[in-house]
Amino acid sequence: MVPREVESFREYVRSVAESIRPHAMTVDKEDRFARESVEKVFEAGLGGVIIPREYGGLGLSTLHYVVFIEELTKACPSTAVTFAVTSGLVANFLINFASEGLKKEYLPKLSTGENIGAFGLTEPCCGSDAGALRTRAEEVEGGFRITGQKQFITNASVADFVIVMAKTDPERGKKGITAFLVPTGSEGFHILKDEDKLGWRGSVTSAISLDGVFVPYERVIGKRGEGFKYALASLDAGRIGIAAMGVGTIARAFELARDYVLKKGLEKDQRYSFRVADLLSMLEVAREYTYRAAKVKDSGVRYTRYAAVAKLVSSEFAMKSVNILLDIMGPDGVVWGEAERLWRDTKILEIGEGTSEIQRLVIAREVL
Ligand code: CAA
Repeated sequence: MVPREVESFREYVRSVAESIRPHAMTVDKEDRFARESVEKVFEAGLGGVIIPREYGGLGLSTLHYVVFIEELTKACPSTAVTFAVTSGLVANFLINFASEGLKKEYLPKLSTGENIGAFGLTEPCCGSDAGALRTRAEEVEGGFRITGQKQFITNASVADFVIVMAKTDPERGKKGITAFLVPTGSEGFHILKDEDKLGWRGSVTSAISLDGVFVPYERVIGKRGEGFKYALASLDAGRIGIAAMGVGTIARAFELARDYVLKKGLEKDQRYSFRVADLLSMLEVAREYTYRAAKVKDSGVRYTRYAAVAKLVSSEFAMKSVNILLDIMGPDGVVWGEAERLWRDTKILEIGEGTSEIQRLVIAREVL
C-alpha cells in the first residue's frame, strides 16, 4: 500500500505529466531534446524530489521519486530518463559522496533546473566491464588533467557538468578510479556526437572527448581511488529509477491496450482479454517490487540486490508489455503513433544502467 500523501503527490505529478504529453510525439518526430517538457517539470518544482531541503530540494522519499519517474514515463519516457539521470543518478551521487562545498554549489542548481547533470562512466573500450575504463586523470599543480573518451552518456550535450570516472592510479585497477565533477564548459571538453537512437529520441545520448581537461582539487568527489565504488553505489539508486520507468511503461501499455480492446468491442474475446489481464498482472508485480526496493533503500540498509531485481523484472516485463500491446493492436500498433513510439522507447530499459545480464550477475553474486 502507498501512503495517502504519496498518492496526492502522484496526482500533482500526473497533472504536470499531462501538460508534457502533447510534446512527446513532437520531439520523437523531430528527434530533438524535449527542452520545453524538461523546463515545465522544473518550473513545477519537481527537479529536486530526493534532494534535501537544505539544498533547495523537496527532501522527499525514494518512493516519491519512483512515483515521479513512473508518471513522467507514462507521458514522455524521454523526459523521464532526463530526470532519472539528473535528479536520480547524479543527485544521489552528489548527496552521498560529494564535499559540503560541492553539494552547496550544485544541488540547489539541480533542484531548480539551472543545471542539468550527467554521469560519465561508460567508455568505448568497456561498457559492462566498467572497471576497465581507460580515461586517465594525471595529477598536476592544483588538481588533475583528464584525458579520455566516454560513450552513451545520457544528457551530456545538454548538461552543465558530468561526473567523470577516471583512473588516477591505473596500476591499482578498479581501486585506482576517482570521481570528478567536470563542468561541460571546461577547456578541452568536447561533445563528439549525439547518437541517432531507436527510442528516447527526445533525450540526448552523447559521446564525449576529454582532452587534458583541468579539474581543480575542489572538484574531486570524495576520496581518491573510491570512484568506482561510488559509481556502483549510485547505479544501485539509478537502477530503481529505470525500474520505475519500466513500471510507467507497463502502466501505459496496459491503458492503451485496454482502451483499444474496449474501442474495438473485443473485451469478450479471450484472445484479447487474457492479454490485457497479463498486462495488469505484470504491472502489479513490477510496481509492488519497485516500491519495495525504494523502501529498502530508504531504510538505510544495502539494497543492491533489491534494485537489481526491480530493474531486471520491471524492464523485462516492460518489453513483454509493449510486445503484447502491439500484438493486440496489430497494424494499428506499428504505424507511427504512441504505441509504436512506446515500443521503441522500451528496449533500452533492458540495456541502460546495466544490462539484464549485469543485473543477473549482481543478483547471483549477492546470493551465491
Ligand atoms: N555499492 C557499493 N560498492 C560496491 C557495489 C555497490 N553496489 N558493488 C560492488 N561494490 C564494491 C565491491 O565491494 C568492490 O570493493 P572492494 O574492491 O573494496 O572489494 C568494488 O566495488 C568493485 O566491485 P567488483 O569487484 O564486484 O566489480 P566488478 O568489476 O567485478 O563488476 C559490475 C561490477 C557489477 C560488473 C559493474 O562493472 C557493473 O555494474 N557494470 C555495469 C555498468 C553499468 O551499469 N553501466 C551503465 C552506466 S550508466 C548508463 O547506462 C547511461 C547513463 O547515462 C545513465
